Amino acid sequence: MILAITTLVEDHVIGEVSLWLRDADARVMEMGFALLPEVQGRGYAHEAVHELLTSAFDHLAAREVIGVADRRNVISTSFMHRLGMSPRSDDDETSLTDLLVIDRKAWQRQRGSDHVASPTDLIE
Ligand SMILES: CC(C)(COP(=O)(O)OP(=O)(O)OC[C@H]1O[C@@H](n2cnc3c(N)ncnc32)[C@H](O)[C@@H]1OP(=O)(O)O)[C@@H](O)C(=O)NCCC(=O)NCCS
Repeated sequence: MILAITTLVEDHVIGEVSLWLRDADARVMEMGFALLPEVQGRGYAHEAVHELLTSAFDHLAAREVIGVADRRNVISTSFMHRLGMSPRSDDDETSLTDLLVIDRKAWQRQRGSDHVASPTDLIE
């Protein structure tokens, strides 16, 4: 699934977020994100990916969402850290990529009292 990020006022496309089903049995999805350079640093990417994670966990029954970034792309890795994602414990340190992960429980804890029970909570 690839979704455009648009501004509310002018309806311009300023980037995209994506979700890929990586393991249907384990309900693991991988997310992607990219924003046009001229609109970075304003919180738009954070807002869009926050909504993407909400959809993944609340509506698409994901158990775990991963993000993969080239190890040189420190902006992406710190962006995922700010979303509450953690490096995968078995991540190979010699790898050229960083793999970060957030699971359903961590996402719900992070959202705290914001969280309203969704139909997919019953799957757990
Ligand atoms: C990774 C990427 C999406 C991050 O975009 P971003 O705009 O920096 O991320 P955020 O939406 O979290 O914005 C955070 C910045 O907005 C600021 N900000 C302003 N208003 C804000 C608000 N209301 N909420 C949150 N942050 C806000 C923050 O202070 C922060 O600024 P800082 O970086 O100077 O500290 C972007 O760098 C990108 O598209 N990179 C190229 C594509 C790419 O590498 N994709 C990933 C491949 S794995």
